[in-house]
Amino acid sequence: MAERIDGAVLAGEVLEEVKAAADRLKDQKGVQTGLAVVIVGEDPASQAYVRSKGLRANECGFKSVTHKLAEDTSEADLLGLIDDLNADDTIHGILVQLPLPGHIDEGKVIQAIDPDKDVDGFSFINVGKLGTGQVGDAFVPCTPAGSMLMIERVLGKDLSGKNAVVVGRSNIVGKPMFNLLLAANATVTVAHSRTADLPALCRTADILVAAVGRPLMIKGDWVKPGAVVIDVGINRVPAPEKGEGKTRLVGDVDYEEAEKVASAITPVPGGVGKMTIAMLMANAVTSAYRSAGEQPPRF
Ligand code: GUN
Repeated sequence: MAERIDGAVLAGEVLEEVKAAADRLKDQKGVQTGLAVVIVGEDPASQAYVRSKGLRANECGFKSVTHKLAEDTSEADLLGLIDDLNADDTIHGILVQLPLPGHIDEGKVIQAIDPDKDVDGFSFINVGKLGTGQVGDAFVPCTPAGSMLMIERVLGKDLSGKNAVVVGRSNIVGKPMFNLLLAANATVTVAHSRTADLPALCRTADILVAAVGRPLMIKGDWVKPGAVVIDVGINRVPAPEKGEGKTRLVGDVDYEEAEKVASAITPVPGGVGKMTIAMLMANAVTSAYRSAGEQPPRF
């Protein structure tokens, strides 16, 4: 039976380090780490994520600011807020929760954030640094960064000789995950909806990262015996067994099947999701250290 990689435990360790680092910077330099989170509209899942981000930021001793904007906020108003936050010296990290309403150009908004405050790692500068191997210098997107920490816990930092398969090619997870695994010397294949014989490809993976958003898509017989499986999917599905209209969260991997084959696997919930917020806090305190001219801690 596979080892369960516990996101809550690992995220708790990261958050303790973040808090200690934030306290040190405050004591030694008088700088309080500041994180601004912006949400537009009422999407309940996004609201819940943003609430958690605010809570964690407070627990880390940050100045935490949440801007909740109405669904019909104009693109110009949102860009105006980002300009203000870019210019605000007490704010070191800016996160605009995605997706944005359809009338707002998401790309334009992301690129308006000062790359030095882009704690999501979505700006061209940070994507470019990661893509050219300057990992230590970039803000790395939080979900892939958290996934890498989980992989490191099991396999160490050097993935030489390992075959990794990333299922999903999104800008938020698949592509940065590819770059991180490659930087750690893995041999990486990125699979997607047009990939031929996906089950056979997945069976070649010593490290299998699932980030497609399709509930329970990856079955036990897609998993190579002894593989490390990282399930990034968070899918809400009907759970009639819990009662009328009830739902539950499942990943992209069929956990019950895969845990019989893998050597280590992340659960959903309680896996990668917990790490995402912890890595956001890590990126925010890193930004505060850089802005104070101090060497940031390594997470
Ligand atoms: N929506 C879902 N995941 C993310 C993320 O990592 N960052 C932002 N900004 N929005 C998201």
